[in-house]
Amino acid sequence: MKILLVGSGGREHALAWKIRQSPLCDQLYIAPGNPGMRPLGHLLDIAPTDLIGIVHAAKDLGVGLVVVGPEDPLALGLVDALKDAGIPAFGPTKAGAALEADKAFSKKMMRDAAIPTAEGRAFTTLRSAIGFIETRTEPLVVKAAGLARGKGVIVCRDPVEALDVVRDIMEKKIFGDAGKTVVIEERLEGAEISLLAFVDGANAYLMEAAQDHKRIGEGDTGPNTGGMGAFSPAPLLTDTLIEKVQREIIVPLMDSLRRNEIDYRGVLYTGLMLTAGGPKVLEFNARFGDPECQPLMMRLQSDLVEVMLATVEGRLDEITLRWDPRPALCVVLASEGYGWKPDAQVTRGVEITGLDDAATIDGVQIFHAGTALADGKLVTSGGRVLGVTAIGDTLDDARQRAQDAIAKIHFAGMQWRKDIGMKSGRAGKAEPPQRGNTIS
Ligand code: AMP
Ligand code: GLY
Repeated sequence: MKILLVGSGGREHALAWKIRQSPLCDQLYIAPGNPGMRPLGHLLDIAPTDLIGIVHAAKDLGVGLVVVGPEDPLALGLVDALKDAGIPAFGPTKAGAALEADKAFSKKMMRDAAIPTAEGRAFTTLRSAIGFIETRTEPLVVKAAGLARGKGVIVCRDPVEALDVVRDIMEKKIFGDAGKTVVIEERLEGAEISLLAFVDGANAYLMEAAQDHKRIGEGDTGPNTGGMGAFSPAPLLTDTLIEKVQREIIVPLMDSLRRNEIDYRGVLYTGLMLTAGGPKVLEFNARFGDPECQPLMMRLQSDLVEVMLATVEGRLDEITLRWDPRPALCVVLASEGYGWKPDAQVTRGVEITGLDDAATIDGVQIFHAGTALADGKLVTSGGRVLGVTAIGDTLDDARQRAQDAIAKIHFAGMQWRKDIGMKSGRAGKAEPPQRGNTIS
């Protein structure tokens, strides 16, 4: 089968790497991809948001499955357009992607389904948002309701800071149209878990859990980013908690999607906070997490294409997900300024060296994100540049392998977190997952 993968980040490189391993994939096209993905498929110069271009390419090339990696094309309705053209696509339609693209809608859906989440309200005018904040005394979180590349959420120390933040978002429009509506909610405390599931229109099949590191700085300090590193499994999410999440979050959400006639097929990403009062939802995303996808793909032993086809065709009950019990982790190497400066001001065009040497380390895969070719040289082209991903007998072992690889890689201004995987809540040898099929 010919497969077209849409996207160009570290997540898509990891997906391409895994898709390529499937005997079901004869030919892989990637739109637009990145230089690291060249050995895996044929790169097409089409932007993920060029819906017409993607649909035409899929038709012309006789593609049997389109896999949509990032949120923007999902939110624009790429899967709807592909469906209309009769092309099978992995990813939710626009209506389903609104769970991520419209935090006000998502919050309403959670409230209607009594899904545990932070108490919060949506506001469409600055006046009403300020009026609400002035009645609060507790720490608040202010979120741009639209898509803002993982950066549209500001965790505030106190309501005074929240007042400044809503002005920045609604008056100065620092997140553009994404901030037309804001969601203001109570600040939750606890450990964060990323729990992803394949959803086939009716059933949700949970993947192994992962933990992301959203803040730019070590010890979870500084601004939020798209994610600076991730590891899987996440032992903090015990089997008891998983059952609770299934019962209180996943099953009610599946019911709610059905009630709203949303035929959701693809990945559902639940961002959870493990609070003293139980797991609560921070956000839903309509796709694989980046960088969570990288360690997950390193651990997935099942044929990804088979799983994706089962997801699209509504037969996840025929599938068993098999995982390597060993932990994997991904450390993101970012450009100078990433996390602190607006995207456009992040340093770009800097030469990257040492990748071939780094890739020789056993258990290590280097997934490209913001890289480009200039005059035959590999250079940086974005905030998150590379995801150095490693699998090992223990998380410490995986971290050591990643560190050995990173020591060989160089680009000017390279920044990364050295504490990825140090908050797992468990050291020592990996145990095989206790859980079998978890279908709701
Ligand atoms: P979101 O995109 O909504 O997941 O938010 C991005 C990050 O902001 C989350 O991963 C959390 O670290 C943080 N965050 C979001 N909502 C809250 C909340 N209600 N309380 C505390 N932290 C939050
Ligand atoms: N790593 C967080 C996300 O993909 O949204």
